[in-house]
Amino acid sequence: MKKALLIFTISSVTLFAANLGETLFNGNCTSCHNITTPNSAPSIQEIKQYYTKAFPQKDAFVLFMSEWVSSPDAKTAMMPHAIKKYGLMPELGYDKDTLTEISKYIFETNFKK
Ligand code: HEC
Repeated sequence: MKKALLIFTISSVTLFAANLGETLFNGNCTSCHNITTPNSAPSIQEIKQYYTKAFPQKDAFVLFMSEWVSSPDAKTAMMPHAIKKYGLMPELGYDKDTLTEISKYIFETNFKK
């Protein structure tokens, strides 16, 4: 009985974390980044392609993306062609934890729908 309760607690925490990343992403990023179609910014699908090529490991992917988004910099950008086309992404002022959750969600999600 105790064991079952523990398993339930762990899975609901995981579920919550997954939903949190998704909610934060949809609330804060999709206004500019469409899932598959570029409009005022590259699609998240395209960004993910560049980032997974550069950072195949989750930890490095999440670290670099959350740091870059926290203060966008043309010198360290993975997609300089996108800056030429759309201009540098504005600094949004989100805290590091929020950006880490969002970056994890992007790494884990298959956007090819
Ligand atoms: C106001 C519009 C806007 C919003 C909101 C926005 N972005 Fe961007 N983003 C851009 C534009 C434009 C680019 C392409 C130019 C560039 O790379 O700076 C970009 C590029 C990027 C890149 C690629 C950077 C590189 O290495 O070249 C990442 C990663 C990214 N955005 C993540 C995010 C995440 C995560 C969010 C949500 C927290 C977000 N963006 C919200 C406009 C936006």
